[in-house]
Amino acid sequence: MTLPITSIGLLDSDQVKSVIGAAVLAPSTHNTQPWRFRCTPAGLELHADPDRALPVADTDQRELLLSCGAALFNLRTAIHALGAHPATTLLPRRGDPTLLAVVRPFAVRKPDPRLVGLADAIPRRHTNRTPFEAAVIPPAVVAELRHAAEVEQAWLPRLDARQRENLRELVHKGHQAQMADPAFLAEWQRWTARDRSSRDGVPEYAAGAMPSDNGGWVLRDFGSRRRERTDHSEPLVVVIGSFDDTRADRLRAGQAMQRVLLTATAAGLDASFISQPVEVPAVRDELRHLLGGGLWPQIVLRLGRGAPVPWTPRRSLDDVLLDPDRLSA
Ligand SMILES: Cc1cc2nc3c(=O)[nH]c(=O)nc-3n(C[C@H](O)[C@H](O)[C@H](O)COP(=O)(O)O)c2cc1C
Repeated sequence: MTLPITSIGLLDSDQVKSVIGAAVLAPSTHNTQPWRFRCTPAGLELHADPDRALPVADTDQRELLLSCGAALFNLRTAIHALGAHPATTLLPRRGDPTLLAVVRPFAVRKPDPRLVGLADAIPRRHTNRTPFEAAVIPPAVVAELRHAAEVEQAWLPRLDARQRENLRELVHKGHQAQMADPAFLAEWQRWTARDRSSRDGVPEYAAGAMPSDNGGWVLRDFGSRRRERTDHSEPLVVVIGSFDDTRADRLRAGQAMQRVLLTATAAGLDASFISQPVEVPAVRDELRHLLGGGLWPQIVLRLGRGAPVPWTPRRSLDDVLLDPDRLSA
C-alpha cells in the first residue's frame, strides 16, 4: 500500500495544492490544459496528458510542450514565493515519455521580490483578444520582456519594419491555410464551442469585443460563430525563439513564454497569442527564414493595453492529479 503524502520537501500538503493551483492557471492552446501532476516524497512531477493533444493544429505536440512549460514556470515561481528553491530537472527519465519535469522544493531560498511579483501576477494574467490601445510601450518595459525570455534560455529577436510587415503577411497566410482545412476547423470547433459548464476549452465569452472592419493583425477568434477579428492598433508583436527545437527546448520556450507574459502582466500590459504562423509547418519555415535562420520560432505574442476580459475555466485539482488520494486532505 502507498502511504499518503503529508509534505514534499519544505511544502506541506496545503502548500502543494496551492502551487499546483497556480500551475494550472497557465495558458494552453484551446485551453486543453494538457498536464497532470504526481506528488511523490521525492518531488512534484509534471506529466504531459497526451489525451489532450491537438493532432491537427499541433501535429508534433510542440505547443503541448509550450503549454506544459508555462505550467512549469508557474509551479516554480509559486514554490519560490513560498521560500523554497524549486530545483528542477527537465525530462528526467528516458523511459517515461510523459514525464516532463520533476521539481524538488527541498532547499530554503530567500524569495526574490521580482519573482514574488511574477507569482502575484499568475492569477491576473488572461489572454486578452480585445483590440489594444495605440499606446507606445516604454523601451525599459520592452527590455524587461527581452530579459525575461533570456533568463529562461529563449530569445525575443528585434524585428525591423520590413520583418514586421512580412510577419503580418505570414500571420494571414497561416490563418488562411487553417481556415481552408476542414480537419483544423473540426478540431477548433470541438474545443471552442463549449457550453458554460465546461471546465476546459475556450468559451465564447473569452472572445471579447469585436472590431468592425478588416485589415491589421488578424487574430484567431473563438466561439461557435468563428468570426474573423482584426486589431488595427500597432501592438508590440514579439516572436519567442529558441536555438534548437528539441523537446527540452520547447519546454524551456514555454517557461520563457510564461515569464514574458507574467512580466507583461506585472507591468500592466495585456497579451494574446498569434499562433497561426507557427502552427502551419511551411509558414513556420518561412518565419524561421525571416528571423535569419538561426532561431526556431516557437510562439508569436501581441502585447498592449486592452479592455478587461473574464476568466477562462480550469479543471479541478482532482482532475489533474495522478493518484489524487495520495495527497492527504
Ligand atoms: C501555445 C499556445 C498557443 C495559443 N494560440 C492561441 C491563438 O492562436 N489564438 C488565441 O486567441 N489564443 C491562443 N492561445 C491562448 C489560449 O486559448 C488560452 O491560453 C486559453 O484559452 C486559456 O485562457 P487564458 O490564457 O485566459 O488563461 C494559445 C495559448 C498557448 C499556450
